[in-house]
Amino acid sequence: MLNFQLSMPTRILFGRGEVEKAGAEAAKMAGKVLLVTGRTATRKTGVLQRVINSLETAGVEVVVFDKIEPNPRTHTVDEGGRIAREEGCELIIGLGGGSPMDAAKAIAAVALSGHPSHEYIAGNQTGRWRELLPVQEALPIMTIPTLAATGSEANNGGVLTHEETKEKGGFSGPALFPKVTIIDPELTFTVSPEYTADGAVDMFTHLYEAYLTGADDALVQDHLTEGLIRAAVENGPIAVQEPTHYEARAALMWASTLALIGLTGAGRGGSFPMHQMEHTLSAFYDISHGRGLAILAPAYFKRVAVDRPDRLARMGRNCFGVTELDDKVAAEKTIDAVIAWFKSMNVYLKLSDLGIEREMLATMAEESVRVGGRGQAFIPATRELDVKEVLAIYEESF
Ligand code: NZQ
Ligand code: ZN
Repeated sequence: MLNFQLSMPTRILFGRGEVEKAGAEAAKMAGKVLLVTGRTATRKTGVLQRVINSLETAGVEVVVFDKIEPNPRTHTVDEGGRIAREEGCELIIGLGGGSPMDAAKAIAAVALSGHPSHEYIAGNQTGRWRELLPVQEALPIMTIPTLAATGSEANNGGVLTHEETKEKGGFSGPALFPKVTIIDPELTFTVSPEYTADGAVDMFTHLYEAYLTGADDALVQDHLTEGLIRAAVENGPIAVQEPTHYEARAALMWASTLALIGLTGAGRGGSFPMHQMEHTLSAFYDISHGRGLAILAPAYFKRVAVDRPDRLARMGRNCFGVTELDDKVAAEKTIDAVIAWFKSMNVYLKLSDLGIEREMLATMAEESVRVGGRGQAFIPATRELDVKEVLAIYEESF
């Protein structure tokens, strides 16, 4: 196990009906808040109004900013930052999936700094991210997730898309840990089967990225990771079939939070190649993040099966019921088992199914390595994924 430092400062309120505590929690920190949310879902499901009522009952003044698109754009974040500054908001609340929560974090940073948010994207061509990251100052943040996927609710990172340059990338820093998150699994009852499946794939990917690329002598982390993967594998299909199954929704919600809170990756190192490759697809074609990850996984796993068959075999045996003893054979069987799981949630697809054009693959491979490589000519993984290799993965996923 490698040495590590771990900070998990976000206070977590978890469970049925906890969303009603939003007002009381916010009132401890602020008299006026910016409530950042998406364009449709939270209004349609009534949760936006519930949160506004809770805040107002607690005497908190609310400014609603409901313009966040999936794969949030930097110009929308900049507008939110301007409003937060002009209105004198003291707390930024992100209500929704990863997109509104990430946007809330970025708004909390730019409201103070006044910098355009695209400069915070790691790998951005301006190079300013080298000075701006890690983010050390931001307004206080609170999150209320309505979708189990990203783990953004309790981590200190986010992802933005700069539309003009098609750069999609991460930003992070200690100031971006939410002070508190209210995780009420019932808020996810209304998530569609498609986004439920995408979310399960996203948390699965957060778990296997470092597990497959990092140190293999982090035994506690292996057990934690495998337990959380099993939670996603078992409960994803249940929630897809039965959207109001509370225990399945609660398991997915808690697993997604724990999957990207630093816990399973600490002491292991490793990298996030699948995320680098997927973010470029979402930047160019605005596809769902989890869906893109599902599509790329089989081609990526084929490389892992060659480079580190022992790790893929271990995941197959401990999470997908693979019984084969030979590592190389077990690694191949793991790929089949993952595909079967994707099929059980109707998320086994190809890039061509999402309207992506073959002639754009080469451009996207170059962009993916440029942004994801952060100055290197490759994305680190179980091997160095250079432009040629990323293009091959895109082609095989087409
Ligand atoms: O558009 P709105 O109206 O908000 O509706 C959303 C959206 O259409 C809808 N939705 C959310 N909660 C719902 C619901 N519909 C019905 N009932 C509910 N309760 O679902 C759609 C997807 O929402 P979005 O927030 O985009 O999804 P997700 O949570 O998957 O977030 C994706 C974003 O997070 C980034 C991704 O790159 C992407 O931009 N990520 C953030 C991470 C982080 N901060 O740590 C890590 C991840 O790896 C990821 O990269
Ligand atoms: Zn992800």
